[in-house]
Amino acid sequence: MVRKFIYGTPFETEAVTADIPVENGSPAYGELCTENGFGFRYIMEDDDIIYGLGEANRGINKRGYCYTSWCTDDPNHTEDKHSLYGAHNFLIVSGTQTFGLFFDYPGKITFDIGYTKSDTLDVFCDSADLALYVIDGTDPYDIVKQFRRIIGRSYIPPKFAFGFGQSRWGYKTPDDFREVADNYRNRHLPLDMIYMDIDYMDSYKDFTLNDDFRDFPEFVQEMKDRNIRLIPIIDAGVKIEDGYSVYEEGVKNRYFCQREDGSDFVAAVWPGDTHLPDVLNPEARKWFGDKYRFLTDQGIEGFWNDMNEPAIFYSKEGLAEAKELARSFSEESGGEAGVWEMGNKLASIANSEEDYRRFFHRIGDKKVRHDKVHNLFGFNMTRAASEAFDRIDPEKRFLMFSRSSYVGMHRYGGVWTGDNKSWWSHILLNLKMMPSLNMCGFLYAGADLGGFGDNTTRDLLLRFLALGVFTPLMRDHAAAGTREQECYRFEHTEDFRHVLGVRYRLLPYLYSEYMKAALTDDMYFKPLSFVWPDDRTARRIEDQLVIGNEIMIAPVYEQNADGRYVYLPEDMKFIKFLPDGTISEEMRSRGVHRIDVALNEVPLFVRSGKCIPVADAAECVADVDSTRLNMIGFEGAEYTLYDDDGIHKDYDLEKNCKVLKME
Ligand code: NOJ
Repeated sequence: MVRKFIYGTPFETEAVTADIPVENGSPAYGELCTENGFGFRYIMEDDDIIYGLGEANRGINKRGYCYTSWCTDDPNHTEDKHSLYGAHNFLIVSGTQTFGLFFDYPGKITFDIGYTKSDTLDVFCDSADLALYVIDGTDPYDIVKQFRRIIGRSYIPPKFAFGFGQSRWGYKTPDDFREVADNYRNRHLPLDMIYMDIDYMDSYKDFTLNDDFRDFPEFVQEMKDRNIRLIPIIDAGVKIEDGYSVYEEGVKNRYFCQREDGSDFVAAVWPGDTHLPDVLNPEARKWFGDKYRFLTDQGIEGFWNDMNEPAIFYSKEGLAEAKELARSFSEESGGEAGVWEMGNKLASIANSEEDYRRFFHRIGDKKVRHDKVHNLFGFNMTRAASEAFDRIDPEKRFLMFSRSSYVGMHRYGGVWTGDNKSWWSHILLNLKMMPSLNMCGFLYAGADLGGFGDNTTRDLLLRFLALGVFTPLMRDHAAAGTREQECYRFEHTEDFRHVLGVRYRLLPYLYSEYMKAALTDDMYFKPLSFVWPDDRTARRIEDQLVIGNEIMIAPVYEQNADGRYVYLPEDMKFIKFLPDGTISEEMRSRGVHRIDVALNEVPLFVRSGKCIPVADAAECVADVDSTRLNMIGFEGAEYTLYDDDGIHKDYDLEKNCKVLKME
């Protein structure tokens, strides 16, 4: 049962799609305070687990730290961080009392989950204007399903988006892309997408192409003929440049975010000075969304939306303040205090909260100061694109994922988890984020495999990929200036061919589980505790996950490890995809096991009494032959396979499902 409470005058975020009557009074759990802002306090029992918060730092159990929903462009995802790119204000208390909470509040909100005081959950924000949803259910899994039902169906990408994609910030010319395509195809390394980072544009101007891409439709087609889709990036900031039509139209129609005095706010990002499209304003959102046509008209079928927290390197005002400080510092020769002040000013000039208070959105006849709705920017930029795709071709699915997000955006696109690093700890962080993202509706998700920042190593990339085999978004992406990390850059390419090949062998199963999860408001990735709620050991395991209903994964995430320990909550079949293309199957009983997993092997476990289909390896999604499937798992088991054309929106579950039997 979901109950809705309203405090003050909330901003309509459109996170929730269900019509839920508003109740008076206070929720049955915890204590509320609506004076001097909003506060919710709940005293946790020792054994309580707190789930949720979507794309957030640390573990699946959020207890013991403090998290702030404040969409932030921060490329250093170290343990001390409180905010990342998303704002997903849903959590579940699981224990003595079990219930879910969704704080529908688009500004900054903090979740102190036993950080200040180990038994106390405190949720607070500056203004007591929000909608609070309280969900009662039999267990956390049931609560997630109820939450998912009220926020609407998760985004469904085209089937090609379940293939592998190669990306790098630094591919500049068509020949750079051809080189990637040639290397993958010539070495028979599977590939479905190559991502175009900012260098394809003319001076980083959205919806432009630089001169190297003069014959773009032909180039897009050339790649498609090789079963490769080009996926361009779109940034939030629109370059200020006379003669650039997007800029001029935006200024003329007042489609950009403005300062209080009505002038267009200036934010510096990659192109230099930009204006931010006011995507919270429906008219501006439609206008911005329709701009994607520039690329869809040339054959593009997918995009990634970036810098949409929105990231601001500096504003005019912030820069002026820093200059003034530097001037007075140099003139007055400064003292130690001056040095610190200057250092702090420069360190905080990017993404500064002051800047987020300097501009406004025009919604109806109201002006809303940005900081109050900050967490909705990425959501609405992505919504702009998605609503435009529905106008461009209502029957067709487009690939779309975003860096920044809020609950509600899950209906319009997926997310990637931003600028991670080539660190072993980030494999584990990636793994732990996935079920939490699923709880909040984000099913199409994945991390930059191999790591974005810093230099990867061959073994790190292989282990990252072995997890990426299972994440709906499977992309290798790296920052400019880092070691090249395309799969063909390393010795023994056959190991990469094999690991990528496993993704394609499992594709019928992974796609089927994704679609069933999306169509029934279910999770694709589940913590073990959701499946075996009465198993005390399973309840605390955070480095293994269940995918769909049939398999459990236990990736290796430590350097030089040749295997790992795994806990099996029930008897399972231990499956390994071996580098020679064969599959080993061994029965393992409930309990703890040590498994050997070489760098070029992909392990998984099939649950008791279940089976899954496996296809032959293929080099692209279009070549996966779903008419020739082998079943692995337990004899006599059945599997319900969902399949469709992967292009259109004909999602009829009954029509598209068939039962396969393991002989
Ligand atoms: C930041 C994004 O997170 C990253 O993926 C991208 O490569 C750079 N911007 C450059 O566009």
